Amino acid sequence: MAIPKINPTTTKAWKNLETHFNKIQDVEMKKLFAQEDKRAEKFTISWEDFYVDFSKNRITDETFSLLLQLAEEVKLKEAMQAYFSGEVINETEKREVLHTALRASKDANIKVEGVNVMPEIFSVKQKIKQFSEAIISGNQKGYTNKAFTHVVNIGIGGSDLGPAMVVDSLQYYKNHLTTQFVSNVDGDHVNEVIKKLDPETTLFVIVSKTFTTQETLSNATTLKNWFLKSAKQEDIAKHFVAVSTNIEKVKDFGVDENNIFPMWNWVGGRFSLWSAVGLTISLAVGNQNFEKLLLGANKMDNHFKTQDFKTNIPVVLALISIWYNNFFKAESEAIIPYSQYLNQFATYLQQGIMESNGKSVDRNGELVKYQTGTIIWGEPGTNSQHAFFQLIHQGTKLIPADFIGFAKSLHGNKDHQDKLMSNFFAQTEALLNGKDKDEVIAEGTEETLIPFKVFQGNKPTNTIFIDSLTPESLGKLIAMYEHKIFVQGIVWNIFSYDQFGVELGKQLAGKILKEFENNTFANHDASTLNLLKHFKKLTD
Ligand code: F6P
Repeated sequence: MAIPKINPTTTKAWKNLETHFNKIQDVEMKKLFAQEDKRAEKFTISWEDFYVDFSKNRITDETFSLLLQLAEEVKLKEAMQAYFSGEVINETEKREVLHTALRASKDANIKVEGVNVMPEIFSVKQKIKQFSEAIISGNQKGYTNKAFTHVVNIGIGGSDLGPAMVVDSLQYYKNHLTTQFVSNVDGDHVNEVIKKLDPETTLFVIVSKTFTTQETLSNATTLKNWFLKSAKQEDIAKHFVAVSTNIEKVKDFGVDENNIFPMWNWVGGRFSLWSAVGLTISLAVGNQNFEKLLLGANKMDNHFKTQDFKTNIPVVLALISIWYNNFFKAESEAIIPYSQYLNQFATYLQQGIMESNGKSVDRNGELVKYQTGTIIWGEPGTNSQHAFFQLIHQGTKLIPADFIGFAKSLHGNKDHQDKLMSNFFAQTEALLNGKDKDEVIAEGTEETLIPFKVFQGNKPTNTIFIDSLTPESLGKLIAMYEHKIFVQGIVWNIFSYDQFGVELGKQLAGKILKEFENNTFANHDASTLNLLKHFKKLTD
Protein backbone atom coordinates (compact mmCIF):
# COMPACT_ATOMS: atom_id res chain seq x y z
CA MET A 1 0.00 0.00 0.00
CA ALA A 2 1.51 3.33 -1.07
CA ILE A 3 0.89 6.44 0.99
CA PRO A 4 -2.14 8.43 -0.15
CA LYS A 5 -1.52 11.18 -2.70
CA ILE A 6 -4.37 13.57 -2.12
CA ASN A 7 -4.15 17.22 -3.06
CA PRO A 8 -5.33 18.84 0.20
CA THR A 9 -6.92 21.76 -1.62
CA THR A 10 -9.40 19.40 -3.29
CA THR A 11 -10.83 18.21 0.03
CA LYS A 12 -14.11 19.43 1.43
CA ALA A 13 -12.38 20.41 4.63
CA TRP A 14 -9.93 22.70 2.81
CA LYS A 15 -12.74 24.48 0.98
CA ASN A 16 -14.67 24.86 4.21
CA LEU A 17 -11.56 26.13 5.94
CA GLU A 18 -11.23 28.82 3.25
CA THR A 19 -14.79 30.01 3.80
CA HIS A 20 -14.35 29.75 7.54
CA PHE A 21 -11.09 31.70 7.37
CA ASN A 22 -12.84 34.59 5.63
CA LYS A 23 -15.24 34.75 8.52
CA ILE A 24 -12.84 34.48 11.41
CA GLN A 25 -9.50 35.82 10.23
CA ASP A 26 -9.87 38.93 12.39
CA VAL A 27 -11.37 37.19 15.38
CA GLU A 28 -9.84 38.34 18.62
CA MET A 29 -8.62 35.54 20.83
CA LYS A 30 -9.29 37.75 23.84
CA LYS A 31 -12.96 37.72 22.94
CA LEU A 32 -12.97 33.96 22.42
CA PHE A 33 -11.58 33.54 25.92
CA ALA A 34 -14.23 35.92 27.28
CA GLN A 35 -16.99 33.94 25.56
CA GLU A 36 -16.00 30.47 26.77
CA ASP A 37 -14.79 29.98 30.28
CA LYS A 38 -13.54 26.44 29.53
CA ARG A 39 -11.51 27.38 26.44
CA ALA A 40 -8.11 26.90 28.10
CA GLU A 41 -8.98 23.41 29.38
CA LYS A 42 -10.64 22.42 26.13
CA PHE A 43 -7.61 23.30 24.05
CA THR A 44 -5.02 21.71 26.31
CA ILE A 45 -3.56 18.23 26.06
CA SER A 46 -2.10 16.79 29.22
CA TRP A 47 0.01 13.71 28.57
CA GLU A 48 2.65 12.21 30.87
CA ASP A 49 4.94 15.10 31.86
CA PHE A 50 3.73 17.27 28.94
CA TYR A 51 1.07 19.95 29.24
CA VAL A 52 0.37 21.42 25.83
CA ASP A 53 -1.85 24.47 25.82
CA PHE A 54 -2.92 25.48 22.31
CA SER A 55 -5.81 27.69 23.41
CA LYS A 56 -3.94 30.91 22.52
CA ASN A 57 -4.55 30.33 18.83
CA ARG A 58 -6.94 31.96 16.41
CA ILE A 59 -9.16 28.92 16.35
CA THR A 60 -12.70 28.10 17.33
CA ASP A 61 -14.42 24.74 17.73
CA GLU A 62 -15.31 24.93 14.07
CA THR A 63 -11.71 25.61 12.99
CA PHE A 64 -10.50 22.72 15.07
CA SER A 65 -13.04 20.28 13.75
CA LEU A 66 -12.38 21.33 10.13
CA LEU A 67 -8.65 20.85 10.63
CA LEU A 68 -9.29 17.40 12.09
CA GLN A 69 -11.53 16.65 9.13
CA LEU A 70 -8.71 17.69 6.80
CA ALA A 71 -6.46 15.12 8.47
CA GLU A 72 -9.13 12.46 7.90
CA GLU A 73 -9.71 13.43 4.30
CA VAL A 74 -6.03 13.25 3.34
CA LYS A 75 -6.03 9.80 4.98
CA LEU A 76 -3.50 10.57 7.68
CA LYS A 77 -4.38 7.36 9.56
CA GLU A 78 -3.47 5.17 6.59
CA ALA A 79 -0.27 7.14 6.06
CA MET A 80 0.71 6.65 9.73
CA GLN A 81 0.14 2.96 9.38
CA ALA A 82 2.45 2.88 6.36
CA TYR A 83 5.08 4.98 8.21
CA PHE A 84 5.27 2.79 11.29
CA SER A 85 5.03 -0.54 9.52
CA GLY A 86 8.06 0.04 7.34
CA GLU A 87 6.49 0.64 3.97
CA VAL A 88 8.58 2.39 1.35
CA ILE A 89 7.10 5.82 2.04
CA ASN A 90 10.27 7.58 0.86
CA GLU A 91 9.25 6.68 -2.67
CA THR A 92 11.68 8.93 -4.54
CA GLU A 93 14.65 7.24 -2.84
CA LYS A 94 12.83 3.88 -2.64
CA ARG A 95 13.32 3.62 1.12
CA GLU A 96 11.43 2.88 4.28
CA VAL A 97 11.41 5.59 6.96
CA LEU A 98 12.05 3.74 10.16
CA HIS A 99 13.74 5.94 12.72
CA THR A 100 10.87 4.88 14.99
CA ALA A 101 12.18 1.29 14.90
CA LEU A 102 15.42 2.49 16.50
CA ARG A 103 13.55 3.28 19.70
CA ALA A 104 10.97 0.49 19.56
CA SER A 105 11.04 -2.22 22.20
CA LYS A 106 13.11 -5.33 21.67
CA ASP A 107 10.10 -7.56 21.12
CA ALA A 108 8.69 -5.40 18.30
CA ASN A 109 8.56 -7.00 14.89
CA ILE A 110 9.35 -4.41 12.24
CA LYS A 111 10.15 -5.77 8.83
CA VAL A 112 12.24 -4.41 6.01
CA GLU A 113 11.96 -6.54 2.88
CA GLY A 114 10.42 -9.29 4.95
CA VAL A 115 13.15 -9.39 7.62
CA ASN A 116 12.62 -8.22 11.21
CA VAL A 117 15.18 -5.45 11.82
CA MET A 118 14.93 -5.45 15.61
CA PRO A 119 17.67 -8.08 16.28
CA GLU A 120 20.13 -6.09 14.16
CA ILE A 121 19.17 -2.82 15.89
CA PHE A 122 19.71 -4.40 19.28
CA SER A 123 23.05 -5.89 18.35
CA VAL A 124 24.30 -2.41 17.32
CA LYS A 125 22.82 -0.98 20.54
CA GLN A 126 24.79 -3.55 22.49
CA LYS A 127 27.97 -2.53 20.68
CA ILE A 128 27.26 1.17 21.47
CA LYS A 129 26.73 0.31 25.13
CA GLN A 130 29.88 -1.79 25.50
CA PHE A 131 32.03 0.72 23.67
CA SER A 132 30.67 3.73 25.59
CA GLU A 133 31.16 2.01 28.93
CA ALA A 134 34.71 0.96 28.08
CA ILE A 135 35.65 4.51 27.06
CA ILE A 136 33.89 6.26 29.96
CA SER A 137 35.33 3.90 32.58
CA GLY A 138 38.80 4.34 31.13
CA ASN A 139 39.19 0.60 30.53
CA GLN A 140 39.72 1.19 26.84
CA LYS A 141 42.72 3.40 26.40
CA GLY A 142 44.60 5.34 23.76
CA TYR A 143 47.88 4.44 22.06
CA THR A 144 50.05 5.59 24.99
CA ASN A 145 47.87 3.73 27.46
CA LYS A 146 46.13 6.82 28.79
CA ALA A 147 42.36 7.02 29.31
CA PHE A 148 40.41 9.15 26.86
CA THR A 149 39.49 12.67 27.91
CA HIS A 150 38.11 14.12 24.65
CA VAL A 151 35.68 12.93 22.00
CA VAL A 152 35.47 14.65 18.62
CA ASN A 153 32.37 14.06 16.54
CA ILE A 154 33.14 14.61 12.86
CA GLY A 155 29.99 14.92 10.73
CA ILE A 156 27.64 17.44 9.17
CA GLY A 157 23.87 17.92 8.80
CA GLY A 158 22.06 15.02 10.42
CA SER A 159 25.40 13.48 11.37
CA ASP A 160 26.22 16.52 13.49
CA LEU A 161 23.17 18.60 14.43
CA GLY A 162 21.30 15.90 16.34
CA PRO A 163 24.21 14.67 18.48
CA ALA A 164 25.47 18.25 18.98
CA MET A 165 22.06 19.52 20.08
CA VAL A 166 21.39 16.60 22.42
CA VAL A 167 24.83 16.69 24.03
CA ASP A 168 24.46 20.42 24.61
CA SER A 169 20.89 20.08 25.89
CA LEU A 170 21.86 17.30 28.29
CA GLN A 171 25.09 18.86 29.52
CA TYR A 172 23.74 18.66 33.08
CA TYR A 173 23.95 14.85 32.73
CA LYS A 174 27.43 14.83 31.23
CA ASN A 175 30.40 12.84 32.49
CA HIS A 176 34.07 13.84 32.49
CA LEU A 177 34.56 13.45 28.71
CA THR A 178 34.88 16.72 26.82
CA THR A 179 33.02 16.62 23.52
CA GLN A 180 33.80 18.67 20.44
CA PHE A 181 31.94 18.82 17.13
CA VAL A 182 33.64 19.50 13.83
CA SER A 183 31.28 20.02 10.93
CA ASN A 184 32.15 22.94 8.67
CA VAL A 185 34.60 22.42 5.81
CA ASP A 186 35.94 25.83 6.85
CA GLY A 187 39.46 24.86 7.95
CA ASP A 188 39.32 27.40 10.74
CA HIS A 189 36.68 25.25 12.43
CA VAL A 190 38.80 22.10 12.62
CA ASN A 191 41.93 24.08 13.50
CA GLU A 192 40.23 25.80 16.42
CA VAL A 193 39.15 22.38 17.70
CA ILE A 194 42.63 20.92 17.24
CA LYS A 195 43.98 23.64 19.56
CA LYS A 196 42.04 22.00 22.39
CA LEU A 197 43.11 18.41 21.74
CA ASP A 198 45.82 16.04 22.87
CA PRO A 199 46.29 13.18 20.37
CA GLU A 200 47.06 10.71 23.16
CA THR A 201 43.69 11.13 24.83
CA THR A 202 41.31 11.99 21.98
CA LEU A 203 38.78 9.67 20.41
CA PHE A 204 37.49 10.55 16.93
CA VAL A 205 33.99 9.52 15.91
CA ILE A 206 33.51 9.94 12.15
CA VAL A 207 29.79 10.02 11.37
CA SER A 208 28.62 9.89 7.79
CA LYS A 209 25.75 7.82 6.51
CA THR A 210 27.14 7.84 2.97
CA PHE A 211 30.83 8.34 3.82
CA THR A 212 31.09 10.48 0.70
CA THR A 213 30.36 13.88 2.24
CA GLN A 214 33.06 16.41 1.33
CA GLU A 215 33.00 18.28 4.63
CA THR A 216 33.23 15.19 6.81
CA LEU A 217 35.90 13.42 4.78
CA SER A 218 38.03 16.59 4.62
CA ASN A 219 37.79 17.14 8.37
CA ALA A 220 38.41 13.47 9.14
CA THR A 221 41.49 13.47 6.88
CA THR A 222 42.85 16.65 8.48
CA LEU A 223 42.36 15.20 11.95
CA LYS A 224 43.89 11.87 10.96
CA ASN A 225 46.96 13.64 9.53
CA TRP A 226 47.26 15.74 12.65
CA PHE A 227 46.99 12.59 14.79
CA LEU A 228 49.66 10.85 12.71
CA LYS A 229 52.12 13.62 13.47
CA SER A 230 52.41 12.09 16.94
CA ALA A 231 51.14 8.55 16.50
CA LYS A 232 51.74 5.68 14.11
CA GLN A 233 49.45 4.22 11.46
CA GLU A 234 48.58 1.20 13.65
CA ASP A 235 47.44 3.54 16.45
CA ILE A 236 44.51 4.71 14.28
CA ALA A 237 42.58 1.59 15.31
CA LYS A 238 42.59 2.78 18.92
CA HIS A 239 41.50 6.35 18.20
CA PHE A 240 39.19 6.39 15.17
CA VAL A 241 35.72 4.88 15.00
CA ALA A 242 33.06 5.45 12.36
CA VAL A 243 29.29 5.33 11.97
CA SER A 244 28.11 4.66 8.43
CA THR A 245 26.15 2.53 6.01
CA ASN A 246 29.14 2.49 3.67
CA ILE A 247 31.41 -0.08 5.31
CA GLU A 248 33.80 -0.40 2.35
CA LYS A 249 34.50 3.33 2.19
CA VAL A 250 35.08 3.46 5.95
CA LYS A 251 37.64 0.66 5.66
CA ASP A 252 39.32 2.45 2.74
CA PHE A 253 39.68 5.49 4.97
CA GLY A 254 41.65 3.33 7.40
CA VAL A 255 39.18 2.71 10.21
CA ASP A 256 39.48 -0.75 11.72
CA GLU A 257 36.55 -3.04 10.85
CA ASN A 258 35.79 -3.62 14.55
CA ASN A 259 35.43 0.12 15.03
CA ILE A 260 32.55 0.48 12.56
CA PHE A 261 29.07 1.08 13.91
CA PRO A 262 26.61 0.29 11.16
CA MET A 263 23.47 2.22 10.31
CA TRP A 264 20.91 1.58 7.65
CA ASN A 265 19.47 3.19 4.56
CA TRP A 266 16.03 3.23 6.13
CA VAL A 267 17.20 5.85 8.64
CA GLY A 268 17.18 9.37 7.21
CA GLY A 269 20.20 11.52 8.17
CA ARG A 270 18.11 14.18 9.93
CA PHE A 271 16.28 11.52 11.94
CA SER A 272 19.35 9.46 12.79
CA LEU A 273 20.41 10.57 16.26
CA TRP A 274 18.61 7.49 17.65
CA SER A 275 20.96 5.16 15.76
CA ALA A 276 24.71 4.77 16.18
CA VAL A 277 24.85 8.38 14.96
CA GLY A 278 24.07 9.06 18.62
CA LEU A 279 27.31 7.36 19.72
CA THR A 280 28.76 10.68 20.87
CA ILE A 281 25.61 11.22 22.97
CA SER A 282 26.06 7.82 24.60
CA LEU A 283 29.73 8.66 25.27
CA ALA A 284 28.94 12.11 26.66
CA VAL A 285 26.03 11.34 28.97
CA GLY A 286 26.37 7.59 29.39
CA ASN A 287 24.49 4.79 27.70
CA GLN A 288 21.71 4.70 30.29
CA ASN A 289 20.81 8.30 29.53
CA PHE A 290 21.01 7.63 25.80
CA GLU A 291 18.56 4.76 26.30
CA LYS A 292 16.25 7.06 28.29
CA LEU A 293 16.28 9.50 25.40
CA LEU A 294 15.17 6.66 23.13
CA LEU A 295 12.55 5.56 25.62
CA GLY A 296 11.06 9.07 25.66
CA ALA A 297 10.90 9.09 21.87
CA ASN A 298 9.26 5.66 21.91
CA LYS A 299 6.60 6.93 24.33
CA MET A 300 5.86 9.82 21.99
CA ASP A 301 5.68 7.36 19.07
CA ASN A 302 3.05 5.37 20.94
CA HIS A 303 1.12 8.50 21.86
CA PHE A 304 1.16 9.59 18.21
CA LYS A 305 0.21 6.12 16.94
CA THR A 306 -2.67 5.49 19.30
CA GLN A 307 -4.18 8.79 20.41
CA ASP A 308 -7.28 10.24 18.79
CA PHE A 309 -6.33 13.10 16.51
CA LYS A 310 -8.01 15.70 18.72
CA THR A 311 -5.80 14.84 21.69
CA ASN A 312 -2.76 13.86 19.67
CA ILE A 313 0.01 16.40 20.32
CA PRO A 314 1.97 16.14 17.03
CA VAL A 315 -1.24 16.03 14.98
CA VAL A 316 -2.74 19.07 16.68
CA LEU A 317 0.47 21.12 16.45
CA ALA A 318 0.87 20.18 12.79
CA LEU A 319 -2.69 21.16 11.90
CA ILE A 320 -2.52 24.48 13.73
CA SER A 321 0.69 25.30 11.90
CA ILE A 322 -1.01 24.47 8.57
CA TRP A 323 -3.86 26.81 9.54
CA TYR A 324 -1.42 29.74 9.80
CA ASN A 325 0.83 28.71 6.91
CA ASN A 326 -1.87 28.07 4.35
CA PHE A 327 -4.75 30.29 5.38
CA PHE A 328 -3.21 33.24 7.23
CA LYS A 329 -0.15 32.93 4.92
CA ALA A 330 2.21 33.22 7.87
CA GLU A 331 5.77 33.18 6.55
CA SER A 332 7.59 31.63 9.45
CA GLU A 333 7.30 30.07 12.90
CA ALA A 334 9.39 30.74 15.95
CA ILE A 335 10.49 28.16 18.49
CA ILE A 336 11.39 29.73 21.80
CA PRO A 337 12.64 27.43 24.54
CA TYR A 338 12.83 28.95 28.01
CA SER A 339 15.92 26.96 28.83
CA GLN A 340 19.47 27.88 27.95
CA TYR A 341 20.14 24.15 27.56
CA LEU A 342 18.00 24.18 24.41
CA ASN A 343 20.19 26.81 22.80
CA GLN A 344 20.72 24.65 19.70
CA PHE A 345 17.20 23.29 19.49
CA ALA A 346 15.85 25.60 16.76
CA THR A 347 19.02 25.15 14.69
CA TYR A 348 18.58 21.41 14.94
CA LEU A 349 14.93 21.62 13.95
CA GLN A 350 15.73 23.79 10.97
CA GLN A 351 17.25 20.79 9.23
CA GLY A 352 14.49 18.42 10.31
CA ILE A 353 11.70 20.73 9.27
CA MET A 354 13.10 22.65 6.33
CA GLU A 355 15.05 19.85 4.66
CA SER A 356 11.99 17.62 4.97
CA ASN A 357 9.15 19.87 3.96
CA GLY A 358 10.86 22.48 1.80
CA LYS A 359 9.39 20.94 -1.34
CA SER A 360 7.34 22.35 -4.23
CA VAL A 361 6.40 19.20 -6.13
CA ASP A 362 3.62 17.01 -4.77
CA ARG A 363 3.51 13.24 -4.46
CA ASN A 364 1.98 13.03 -7.93
CA GLY A 365 4.91 14.91 -9.44
CA GLU A 366 2.88 18.10 -9.94
CA LEU A 367 3.96 21.59 -8.90
CA VAL A 368 2.04 22.56 -5.77
CA LYS A 369 -0.12 25.67 -5.86
CA TYR A 370 -0.12 26.21 -2.11
CA GLN A 371 2.51 26.91 0.49
CA THR A 372 4.46 24.00 2.01
CA GLY A 373 7.40 23.96 4.48
CA THR A 374 7.43 26.51 7.22
CA ILE A 375 10.50 28.61 7.92
CA ILE A 376 11.70 27.91 11.44
CA TRP A 377 13.81 30.10 13.64
CA GLY A 378 14.29 30.81 17.29
CA GLU A 379 16.55 31.32 20.27
CA PRO A 380 16.07 30.74 23.96
CA GLY A 381 14.04 33.16 26.03
CA THR A 382 14.79 35.37 27.85
CA ASN A 383 17.69 36.33 25.55
CA SER A 384 15.45 36.48 22.49
CA GLN A 385 13.12 38.89 24.31
CA HIS A 386 16.01 41.35 24.18
CA ALA A 387 16.68 40.62 20.52
CA PHE A 388 13.79 39.95 18.13
CA PHE A 389 10.66 39.98 20.29
CA GLN A 390 10.01 43.58 19.34
CA LEU A 391 9.12 42.38 15.85
CA ILE A 392 6.86 39.61 17.11
CA HIS A 393 5.00 42.05 19.37
CA GLN A 394 4.74 45.11 17.18
CA GLY A 395 5.94 44.18 13.68
CA THR A 396 3.72 43.67 10.64
CA LYS A 397 4.25 39.94 10.34
CA LEU A 398 2.25 37.18 11.92
CA ILE A 399 4.67 34.79 13.61
CA PRO A 400 3.08 31.85 15.40
CA ALA A 401 5.42 30.68 18.14
CA ASP A 402 5.98 27.58 20.24
CA PHE A 403 6.99 28.44 23.78
CA ILE A 404 8.76 25.50 25.44
CA GLY A 405 9.26 25.69 29.18
CA PHE A 406 10.22 23.44 32.09
CA ALA A 407 8.60 23.74 35.49
CA LYS A 408 11.73 22.77 37.41
CA SER A 409 15.24 23.97 36.74
CA LEU A 410 18.01 21.41 37.00
CA HIS A 411 20.24 23.30 39.42
CA GLY A 412 17.26 24.32 41.50
CA ASN A 413 17.85 28.05 41.88
CA LYS A 414 14.32 29.19 42.76
CA ASP A 415 15.01 32.88 42.38
CA HIS A 416 16.24 32.47 38.80
CA GLN A 417 13.62 29.89 37.90
CA ASP A 418 10.77 32.11 39.09
CA LYS A 419 12.15 35.02 37.10
CA LEU A 420 12.58 32.84 34.01
CA MET A 421 9.11 31.36 34.24
CA SER A 422 7.45 34.67 34.97
CA ASN A 423 8.82 35.81 31.63
CA PHE A 424 7.70 32.58 29.97
CA PHE A 425 4.10 33.08 31.08
CA ALA A 426 4.13 36.86 30.64
CA GLN A 427 5.19 36.74 27.01
CA THR A 428 2.39 34.50 25.75
CA GLU A 429 -0.06 36.55 27.80
CA ALA A 430 1.25 39.79 26.31
CA LEU A 431 1.16 38.35 22.82
CA LEU A 432 -2.43 37.28 23.36
CA ASN A 433 -3.84 40.40 25.00
CA GLY A 434 -1.64 43.18 23.71
CA LYS A 435 -2.32 46.63 25.13
CA ASP A 436 -5.00 48.87 23.67
CA LYS A 437 -5.14 52.64 23.39
CA ASP A 438 -7.22 53.09 26.55
CA GLU A 439 -4.73 51.15 28.61
CA VAL A 440 -1.86 53.16 27.17
CA ILE A 441 -3.70 56.40 28.01
CA ALA A 442 -4.49 55.15 31.50
CA GLU A 443 -0.76 54.76 32.08
CA GLY A 444 -0.44 58.53 31.66
CA THR A 445 1.38 58.28 28.32
CA GLU A 446 2.25 61.52 26.57
CA GLU A 447 -0.26 61.99 23.74
CA THR A 448 2.16 61.90 20.79
CA LEU A 449 3.58 58.59 22.00
CA ILE A 450 0.28 56.78 22.36
CA PRO A 451 0.25 55.03 18.94
CA PHE A 452 3.78 53.75 19.45
CA LYS A 453 2.93 52.16 22.76
CA VAL A 454 -0.12 50.24 21.61
CA PHE A 455 0.26 46.46 21.26
CA GLN A 456 -2.29 44.89 18.97
CA GLY A 457 -1.96 41.48 20.57
CA ASN A 458 -3.81 38.54 19.07
CA LYS A 459 -0.49 36.85 18.29
CA PRO A 460 -0.80 33.07 18.44
CA THR A 461 1.34 30.82 20.62
CA ASN A 462 1.46 27.20 21.75
CA THR A 463 2.76 26.56 25.24
CA ILE A 464 4.62 23.28 25.56
CA PHE A 465 5.09 23.00 29.26
CA ILE A 466 7.14 20.08 30.60
CA ASP A 467 8.00 19.04 34.17
CA SER A 468 11.77 19.11 33.73
CA LEU A 469 14.49 18.63 31.15
CA THR A 470 15.53 14.99 31.33
CA PRO A 471 16.88 12.63 28.67
CA GLU A 472 13.39 11.12 28.50
CA SER A 473 11.49 14.39 28.13
CA LEU A 474 13.97 15.58 25.51
CA GLY A 475 13.38 12.34 23.58
CA LYS A 476 9.65 13.01 23.69
CA LEU A 477 10.08 16.60 22.54
CA ILE A 478 12.28 15.72 19.56
CA ALA A 479 9.94 12.90 18.50
CA MET A 480 7.00 15.28 18.83
CA TYR A 481 8.51 17.56 16.19
CA GLU A 482 9.52 14.59 14.01
CA HIS A 483 5.90 13.49 13.86
CA LYS A 484 4.70 17.04 13.29
CA ILE A 485 6.97 17.06 10.20
CA PHE A 486 5.42 13.78 9.04
CA VAL A 487 1.84 14.99 9.47
CA GLN A 488 2.52 18.22 7.61
CA GLY A 489 4.20 16.37 4.75
CA ILE A 490 1.21 14.08 4.46
CA VAL A 491 -1.28 16.95 4.42
CA TRP A 492 0.78 18.96 1.92
CA ASN A 493 1.06 15.84 -0.25
CA ILE A 494 4.85 16.09 -0.55
CA PHE A 495 7.66 13.62 -0.01
CA SER A 496 9.26 14.62 3.29
CA TYR A 497 12.13 12.16 3.34
CA ASP A 498 14.28 13.03 0.34
CA GLN A 499 16.50 16.10 -0.02
CA PHE A 500 17.37 16.54 -3.69
CA GLY A 501 17.48 20.29 -3.09
CA VAL A 502 20.91 20.04 -1.51
CA GLU A 503 22.50 18.45 -4.59
CA LEU A 504 22.80 21.27 -7.12
CA GLY A 505 25.03 23.47 -4.97
CA LYS A 506 27.24 20.47 -4.17
CA GLN A 507 27.68 19.68 -7.89
CA LEU A 508 28.60 23.24 -8.76
CA ALA A 509 31.03 23.47 -5.84
CA GLY A 510 32.74 20.34 -7.19
CA LYS A 511 33.07 21.97 -10.63
CA ILE A 512 34.42 25.23 -9.17
CA LEU A 513 36.94 23.36 -7.01
CA LYS A 514 38.35 21.71 -10.15
CA GLU A 515 38.49 25.08 -11.84
CA PHE A 516 40.56 26.45 -8.94
CA GLU A 517 43.05 23.64 -9.57
CA ASN A 518 43.19 24.25 -13.33
CA ASN A 519 42.99 28.01 -13.00
CA THR A 520 40.36 28.32 -15.74
CA PHE A 521 36.75 29.34 -15.27
CA ALA A 522 34.06 28.55 -17.82
CA ASN A 523 30.30 28.51 -18.14
CA HIS A 524 29.47 30.86 -15.30
CA ASP A 525 27.11 33.80 -15.21
CA ALA A 526 28.88 37.18 -15.31
CA SER A 527 28.44 37.86 -11.60
CA THR A 528 29.87 34.51 -10.47
CA LEU A 529 32.71 34.80 -12.97
CA ASN A 530 33.73 38.21 -11.63
CA LEU A 531 33.58 36.93 -8.07
CA LEU A 532 35.76 33.93 -8.92
CA LYS A 533 38.32 36.14 -10.62
CA HIS A 534 38.34 38.53 -7.68
CA PHE A 535 38.88 35.60 -5.31
CA LYS A 536 41.78 34.35 -7.42
CA LYS A 537 43.34 37.83 -7.44
CA LEU A 538 43.18 38.03 -3.65
CA THR A 539 44.45 34.55 -2.93
CA ASP A 540 47.06 33.74 -5.61
O1 F6P B 1 22.44 18.09 3.79
C1 F6P B 1 22.30 16.94 3.02
C2 F6P B 1 22.61 15.68 3.78
O2 F6P B 1 22.46 14.60 2.90
C3 F6P B 1 21.75 15.51 5.02
O3 F6P B 1 20.51 14.98 4.78
C4 F6P B 1 22.63 14.64 5.85
O4 F6P B 1 22.21 14.68 7.18
C5 F6P B 1 23.97 15.29 5.62
O5 F6P B 1 23.94 15.66 4.27
C6 F6P B 1 25.18 14.46 5.93
O6 F6P B 1 25.27 13.29 5.16
P1 F6P B 1 26.17 12.07 5.58
O7 F6P B 1 25.73 11.56 6.90
O8 F6P B 1 26.00 11.04 4.48
O9 F6P B 1 27.60 12.55 5.65
